[in-house]
Amino acid sequence: MINHPTPTFPNSQMESLRSALPLLLLFLLPAAVHGWGVDGHYTTCKIAQGRLSPAASNAVKDLLPKYAEGDLASQCSWADHVKFRYHWSSALHYIDTPDNLCTYQYTRDCKDEDGVAGRCVAGAINNYTTQLLDYGKQTTQYNLTEALLFLSHFMGDIHQPLHVGFTSDRGGNSINVHWFTRKSELHHVWDDSIIETAEERFYDSNVENLVNAIQTNITKEWADQVPAWEKCARNQNTCPNIYASEGIKAACSWAYKGVGNDSVLGEDYFLSRLPIVNWRLAQGGVRLAATLNKIFG
Ligand SMILES: *[C@@H]1O[C@H](CO)[C@@H](O)[C@H](O)[C@H]1NC(C)=O
Ligand SMILES: *[C@@H]1O[C@H](CO)[C@@H](O)[C@H](O)[C@H]1NC(C)=O
Ligand SMILES: *[C@@H]1O[C@H](CO)[C@@H](O)[C@H](O)[C@H]1NC(C)=O
Ligand SMILES: *[C@@H]1O[C@H](CO)[C@@H](O)[C@H](O)[C@H]1NC(C)=O
Repeated sequence: MINHPTPTFPNSQMESLRSALPLLLLFLLPAAVHGWGVDGHYTTCKIAQGRLSPAASNAVKDLLPKYAEGDLASQCSWADHVKFRYHWSSALHYIDTPDNLCTYQYTRDCKDEDGVAGRCVAGAINNYTTQLLDYGKQTTQYNLTEALLFLSHFMGDIHQPLHVGFTSDRGGNSINVHWFTRKSELHHVWDDSIIETAEERFYDSNVENLVNAIQTNITKEWADQVPAWEKCARNQNTCPNIYASEGIKAACSWAYKGVGNDSVLGEDYFLSRLPIVNWRLAQGGVRLAATLNKIFG
């Protein structure tokens, strides 16, 4: 994305483009500011899909809408697309923690801007995990298709370090930086830019190659750590408080570190942070699968 040549338009087209652009951006931006971008979500869900038990795999296929053709990964950005229709859901994509503390506590931090308890990404993961336990019951008050799509998306979001970020900069959304030569915000760098630059440089601009590379590391380099990622305290199907605590630690140690307004983030930042991004995508995928496997027995 960073080296696109500037397209040239005849003047009149350029004019109408110029007037349409702010409007266009207004529609595009909100979808881009929360959550791993499309490729990040695709990656966590694709990794998860490869690790589902037969029972979980069947339940997921049963719950997915027909047009998904059995592919969960293709639907993992659904929760971003319904943020306007379901305005209540937008607070469920992240957690705001106190500035500079670098810690997370459920009772202190998991609430929305009006202070309503439990309305944050950790609360949402618990909520939709509990709802999905109704699968197979004769009746349920919940839409389990939506529960599956929300859970799969939020499990990705909670692993994006800046989704458990500081309150006053809104998880890096108000920290203006340059990604190489382009104007951006720190949050967007972590949602999209690091992943996109890696795809262009190392993976032929093909997300499947990134997925395969992470999967290889899950089965080899990181194999001895994976059982610990999957583990929650006894009886818990999922443990988002652990994921969130890791998130704010990673945000402080890597995402925020050395960055302020107007920082230029280039080669050094990219190469030193990419391993953290890969690692968090892997953990998100492994944990989504572990959670779905427990839910669906
Ligand atoms: C739980 O799920 C229901 C149904 O989607 C939703 O109305 C509610 O806001 C959710 N609450 C949280 C904390 O996720
Ligand atoms: C459940 O949610 C999906 C996705 O929003 C929707 O297409 C479907 O109609 C809903 N099912 C019911 C029974 O409301
Ligand atoms: C960065 O600058 C923007 C725009 O001037 C401002 O709104 C924001 O509060 C600043 N952020 C920090 C972390 O200083
Ligand atoms: C996989 O692990 C190797 C060795 O630690 C590392 O060099 C490589 O960047 C990793 N790739 C991904 C996609 O995580």
